[in-house]
Amino acid sequence: MSVSPSFTTQWIAHFQCNAEHRPTPRWHTTCRIPGTIQPALRRWAQDLEYAIGHGPGRLISRHATSCLARDPDLAQVIEAWLAEEKSHADLLRQLRLRCGDASSPAAAVSWTLPLFLFMRRVVAFEQELQILSLSELAGSVSCWLLLRHLPDPALRDVCTLMLRDGRGHLAFHAELLRQRAQQERHAVGSSDHQRRIQLAGLGAAAALWFAHRGLFQSLNLSASDFFSEARHQIRQHLRRLQPDVTPPRHPAHLPEWTLSEV
Ligand SMILES: [Fe+2]
Repeated sequence: MSVSPSFTTQWIAHFQCNAEHRPTPRWHTTCRIPGTIQPALRRWAQDLEYAIGHGPGRLISRHATSCLARDPDLAQVIEAWLAEEKSHADLLRQLRLRCGDASSPAAAVSWTLPLFLFMRRVVAFEQELQILSLSELAGSVSCWLLLRHLPDPALRDVCTLMLRDGRGHLAFHAELLRQRAQQERHAVGSSDHQRRIQLAGLGAAAALWFAHRGLFQSLNLSASDFFSEARHQIRQHLRRLQPDVTPPRHPAHLPEWTLSEV
């Protein structure tokens, strides 16, 4: 896979802009996360923290190292994206601290994490990127639900920031996929491709539900509520993959971001 110079320049600028505009969550406020919800929230945050930042912290698929060595431009933009993922892991660690958990995320807390890492290791480079974009999609489902159902100011700020960045990550993955499709002259956005994404997206959401349903149920959310949000996020992602969609980049898709507005 190789990428165009404009792709690299524009996405590096996007990640730099995000890094320069990172509001600090309102950690100083009183925690409004009920004690009954905190254990499940800590488990969720620990899983996500390990998966996106404090785990391998790099691409681990077969040939990932050699693929990136062959394309320094792609390596550069992937490094910028992973740095942003790492900043999310730091936010999640602080969120766990807010819930009284100062332990290291060195160990997986749910069965989904070893499976996630195993799948990334055994697939090819481009498939690992697709797995990461599906996990991004599942992560955005949980962030939207937490944002709507927990009134804690710091938690809302963390979710808001992760959703803002995550929207860029999904657009980044979609554009990467479109570039690859153009090079290999196969269709992205065909009905077959859409069905595969829908199924894989629902699979990723199902793994999240089964691993962390206690958290969502403690927010009075049913499986139907959860999967309705998942289907909504998948539909939005499918729209991003359409060939005629102009990928959103800074500054066009970044609003004047004020955390308290959400
Ligand atoms: Fe992400």
